[in-house]
Amino acid sequence: MAFAECSRGRGVSDMGRDAAYDGAFDTVIGSQWKLISDEQRAAAASGGRRGRLEPEAPDAYAVHDTRRYQRGHADVFREVFNEAYKDSGHAPPVKGERLLVVDVGAGAATVAVALQEALGNARQRRIEYVAFDPNLMMRTLGERILDYVAKGFRSAKYVPTLDDLDPNDGHRVLFAFSYVAHQDAVTTDHLEQWASVIEEAVDAADRAVELIYTTAANLSGDKFPELCAMLKRAGITPKTKPVRVKVQRRYPSMDGSDGRVGWDWQDRNWQVQAEHWVLRS
Ligand SMILES: C[S@@+](CC[C@H](N)C(=O)[O-])C[C@H]1O[C@@H](n2cnc3c(N)ncnc32)[C@H](O)[C@@H]1O
Repeated sequence: MAFAECSRGRGVSDMGRDAAYDGAFDTVIGSQWKLISDEQRAAAASGGRRGRLEPEAPDAYAVHDTRRYQRGHADVFREVFNEAYKDSGHAPPVKGERLLVVDVGAGAATVAVALQEALGNARQRRIEYVAFDPNLMMRTLGERILDYVAKGFRSAKYVPTLDDLDPNDGHRVLFAFSYVAHQDAVTTDHLEQWASVIEEAVDAADRAVELIYTTAANLSGDKFPELCAMLKRAGITPKTKPVRVKVQRRYPSMDGSDGRVGWDWQDRNWQVQAEHWVLRS
């Protein structure tokens, strides 16, 4: 096979790693996007929103945000996941492990997209992916995206509430929070619920529970220091480590001659804040 030509700004996309997501994008997101009027698109893109999504927001907002930002958020999570375990001999899931990934504020299953791209087939078969998002349109999109990206997982589903989790089943557990930390719709009550679900997982596990969160750097209002303080009060002291990555921005361009998605790579990188937490009681 001939070598592909190097060109500046093109990434792994050219090597087919994200072909599964491209298929989902064309079919799932593209079909919903076509149903949205210009007025709805303009409202969804309004500068004041900055990706903030309420549970009852118009469906157009969820479709817009998924179309515009999911690709980048998955790129970031994939690189953070790879970097977090780069020098460790126990990058999950190792042979014999089942990894329960709890994706909170999952949107349209962004962390599943990232893991499908980060992991080979054997490791994907050890993943039990559970997503939760309070926005119904996000969940509807995500359930369809899972048909493309989670085919190789041991299991993948959305749960209507975090009360439905069962971490007490011999799993290694990873809580994932991708671009949820600055959501206005996340209240102290939600953080308390997350802390209690995490606490339950820590109590049930015979090894450390882990958490990875990614968000936009240089924004005020990150809720994760409060979550960390709540866990400390519950007797769990998170060991936290910042994870630094450089990830080039890309956005969808729909002007390909066949109408299928293409990606416009930007000169700028995402400004990422990310941490890896290890949690024991
Ligand atoms: C910026 S989007 C990120 C979605 C996805 N994790 C990603 O990275 O593409 C923020 C998500 O947080 C969800 N969200 C808002 N408030 C939430 C809450 N209290 N609990 C869980 N998710 C929430 C929204 O519905 C939305 O899907």
